[in-house]
Amino acid sequence: MRALVVLVALQQKVNMAGLQIRFEDGASYERMMGTWSRLTGDIFLDWLAPRSGLRWVDVGCGNGAFTELLAKRCVPSEIKGIDPSDAQLSFARGRPSARPATFQKGDAMALPFPENSFDAAVMALVIFFVPDPVKGVAEMARVVRPGGIVSAYAWDVTGGGLPAAQIQVEMRAMGLSPPLPPSFEASRLESLRDLWRGAGLDAVETTAINVQRTFASFDEFWDINLLGASIAAVVATLSPYDAEVLKNRVRARMRRTPPGASPTVHAPTR
Ligand SMILES: C[S@@+](CC[C@H](N)C(=O)[O-])C[C@H]1O[C@@H](n2cnc3c(N)ncnc32)[C@H](O)[C@@H]1O
Repeated sequence: MRALVVLVALQQKVNMAGLQIRFEDGASYERMMGTWSRLTGDIFLDWLAPRSGLRWVDVGCGNGAFTELLAKRCVPSEIKGIDPSDAQLSFARGRPSARPATFQKGDAMALPFPENSFDAAVMALVIFFVPDPVKGVAEMARVVRPGGIVSAYAWDVTGGGLPAAQIQVEMRAMGLSPPLPPSFEASRLESLRDLWRGAGLDAVETTAINVQRTFASFDEFWDINLLGASIAAVVATLSPYDAEVLKNRVRARMRRTPPGASPTVHAPTR
């Protein structure tokens, strides 16, 4: 049995350098990452404890998962959501409980707002997707008034904190290369601190958040992770047989994983 797994691994060495993580389905995103973002966002907002009535910009708002939480919890006077993905924005616009949020297409590296337009900016699970994170943080600092809040939370990508980390480990063991976000190094706590300080922000605080999600069964865990852009992209390249081998390897790994092991998120703010 073991020998067979090794053979499969050798056969599976394919170059996946061209694969990219794309956000083209807001509903699938909701079941996979939107749920994670809300679970994390709740803890993040407890920590951040912003006062009500603020003008917010949600940079990389995606399908509005965190935007909706912000609207429900923080009684903002305004929220602008910015994202480059039409599919994500379309889903976000269909969330009645995200009001007063409005959503528009845009890029974190060139926010379409004058300086000092907002009291608070946030990037929820976004900084590692921004090709130039320095520019992204500088843009948040530019559009937030002096004394405002510039904040983010990000998966601890290099520390094994991604929700699909267990699947990625088994993919690598099979010689596969699951795509990572383009700026994944930015997710380290020290990198985030440096980015925030480098943008001239003071009173920078960071924290690590541990978040857990319960699945009814391994099959539910698997099916939901297959909705994730990076996992789906790799599995789509596999034969049905190899996809089953991967699934069985992940199942065995999950059985060995101690209870309480969970994804970790890093959050800097000023
Ligand atoms: C993991 S999702 C996070 C979405 C949402 N903030 C949430 O908490 O669920 C990452 C989002 O970043 C967006 N994104 C990618 N590159 C971006 C960029 N350069 N500027 C702004 N957003 C970007 C993607 O379109 C995607 O919706």
